[in-house]
Amino acid sequence: KDEHRLLHSQVQCGYTKPQTLAFRPCAVELPPMRLCTMRVSCGWEGGLRFSTSCVRNVVIKHVTIIGGGQMGAGIAQVAASTGHTVTLVDTSEDILKKSIKGIEGSLKRVVKKKFADKPEAGEEFIQKVLKNVAISSDAKAAVQSTDLVLEAIVENLKIKQDLFGALDKVAPEHTVFASNTSSLPITDIASSTARLDRFGGLHFFNPVPMMKLVEVIGTSSTSQETFDSLLNFSKALGKTPVSCKDTPGFIVNRLLVPYMMEAIRLHERGSAPLCHGSKEDIDIAMKLGAGYPMGPFELLDYVGLDTAKFIMDGWSAMDPGNPLFAQSELLNKLVAEGKYGKKTGEGFYKYK
Ligand SMILES: NC(=O)c1ccc[n+]([C@@H]2O[C@H](COP(=O)([O-])OP(=O)(O)OC[C@H]3O[C@@H](n4cnc5c(N)ncnc54)[C@H](O)[C@@H]3O)[C@@H](O)[C@H]2O)c1
Repeated sequence: KDEHRLLHSQVQCGYTKPQTLAFRPCAVELPPMRLCTMRVSCGWEGGLRFSTSCVRNVVIKHVTIIGGGQMGAGIAQVAASTGHTVTLVDTSEDILKKSIKGIEGSLKRVVKKKFADKPEAGEEFIQKVLKNVAISSDAKAAVQSTDLVLEAIVENLKIKQDLFGALDKVAPEHTVFASNTSSLPITDIASSTARLDRFGGLHFFNPVPMMKLVEVIGTSSTSQETFDSLLNFSKALGKTPVSCKDTPGFIVNRLLVPYMMEAIRLHERGSAPLCHGSKEDIDIAMKLGAGYPMGPFELLDYVGLDTAKFIMDGWSAMDPGNPLFAQSELLNKLVAEGKYGKKTGEGFYKYK
């Protein structure tokens, strides 16, 4: 009876209507319920699945971050600043040296504010944080003894799957895997591994040291222990986590990307003189009228037009009839010209 109640309290339903549960005896031998819980959930496809996990809550102390770009370096900085030890992995030592330089520069900006009256304490803080970060260009060696592998590499399903598939064979049993993907299904990334119960999503926001939110994503196979470990890790980083289903765009991007695309379409539709529609007017309108800190075109340039296009291409391929995911000629043209936004010096606006 108690087990039944426990199972019931852990049922999580997604988009689908409430479902009646039928419990059957478990084929696997379970340790006492205190150590091993079961989680029943509706996945992307809405079907009911049982998953079991006998790995207890992992307290994440050592993190291996794969990908030392904008996001990976930012996450490494925050993790190291909050007392975690970090190994930052990328494809070459040169890239990693740049990542460390970036982290150092970012820490200097933090220290300028936080330790305005105590510059020596500020320098001590920087050295302490940097000491917590090791670098490696050998991912397999870097995951030999780690609590969490957090991936922040290029947004490409096959490359992410290949990486996790290889690391799954060498990482310790207890190690939790997580992806920082913005748009790919965590379920698909995890499918290249045999640790489906220890796999989830941790979606950070750019710039990581400034942005307080982390979306924690559980698939239909993620165990409750793994999900709790990821939530606790996010809190230990000083972030505010929200729980998400493994659905396209999770929460923030599911709302934000269609909004930015509609701003482009509004601009495309209204370029005649005296009509609404200049990108400057739309940006001003959303800042002053909706109270947003950036207008949609400024935000698109900041995120990267290539990234926005990549997300929209993936979603429109998945749901071609959905007008929210319709292609934009203007976005396609800018990307084809290599105008990706701030990072290339030009997008909707020009940057020096
Ligand atoms: N940029 C954002 O605003 C943002 C926000 C949230 C999530 N994300 C997601 O985070 C991930 C990384 O984005 P980013 O903006 O940091 O990209 P980035 O291009 O700045 O960095 C990616 C890094 O990964 C490295 N890399 C590529 N393949 C690798 C491999 N096999 N092994 C090790 N390193 C490898 C690259 O050398 C590069 O340094 C993507 O999945 C993206 O969707 C991005």
